[in-house]
Amino acid sequence: MALLNVNIDHVATVRQARLTDEPDPIWAAVQCQLAGANGITVHLRQDRRHINDRDVRLLKEAVVCKLNLEMSMTEEIVKIAERIKPDQVTLVPEKRAELTTEGGLDCLQQKERLAEVVKRMHKKGILVSTFITPEKEQIIASAEAGCDAVELHTGMYANAKGHKTVEKRLAELAAAKDFAKESGLVVHAGHGLTYRNIAGLARIEGLCELNIGHSIVARAIFVGMQQATAEMIKLINRYSVSL
Ligand code: PXP
Repeated sequence: MALLNVNIDHVATVRQARLTDEPDPIWAAVQCQLAGANGITVHLRQDRRHINDRDVRLLKEAVVCKLNLEMSMTEEIVKIAERIKPDQVTLVPEKRAELTTEGGLDCLQQKERLAEVVKRMHKKGILVSTFITPEKEQIIASAEAGCDAVELHTGMYANAKGHKTVEKRLAELAAAKDFAKESGLVVHAGHGLTYRNIAGLARIEGLCELNIGHSIVARAIFVGMQQATAEMIKLINRYSVSL
């Protein structure tokens, strides 16, 4: 059964809309934990558009479940991860102009840097996952670089229109999951997952963690963070194939 990591970036987005001190992502993290989340995910972007250094520092203290830091491989951010020591980092590509992470990390092209970052994270006891498109060559490159896990990009599934395309995207994700597991990697998935499309993904056996952000924070505006998290966990559990 897949476990839920709640991405709370957009709690910080609302705070940053007024450059004030509320809503506080630390409070949101506590609410997610109370609802039974497996982990808290935040993306410390180079431009600090939502989550900032203070958030990551305090989350390291407040989060008793898993703290998963999404980050680029830029030296400044790698050094912060070494200092903070989250439980896990998920390495993502990052472009300043994008609304959200677009595409996966090109592990093939950046294999040398990836292997170096993996080594540095492992030295601090931090697990490493790469956010990748569900393709064999990206999985192989992640495994060869020494990663512990891959997070399969579910954006193409989330955006798919029509039953046939949806099924095709799910089949691609399931095949990539099998190949990643055979390559010795733990498999995560995320991006664009919602209360409406989670069923298809939850049915894929053997996914370990799901990273879900925008949809949960959007629902939390109406029902609160704790209930929004609990509802997503309930859906994941309802549709999961038990192992
Ligand atoms: N996984 C990764 C690697 C991401 O970059 C994001 C977006 O920050 C998510 C999961 C969560 O995506 P969403 O907000 O669409 O649920």
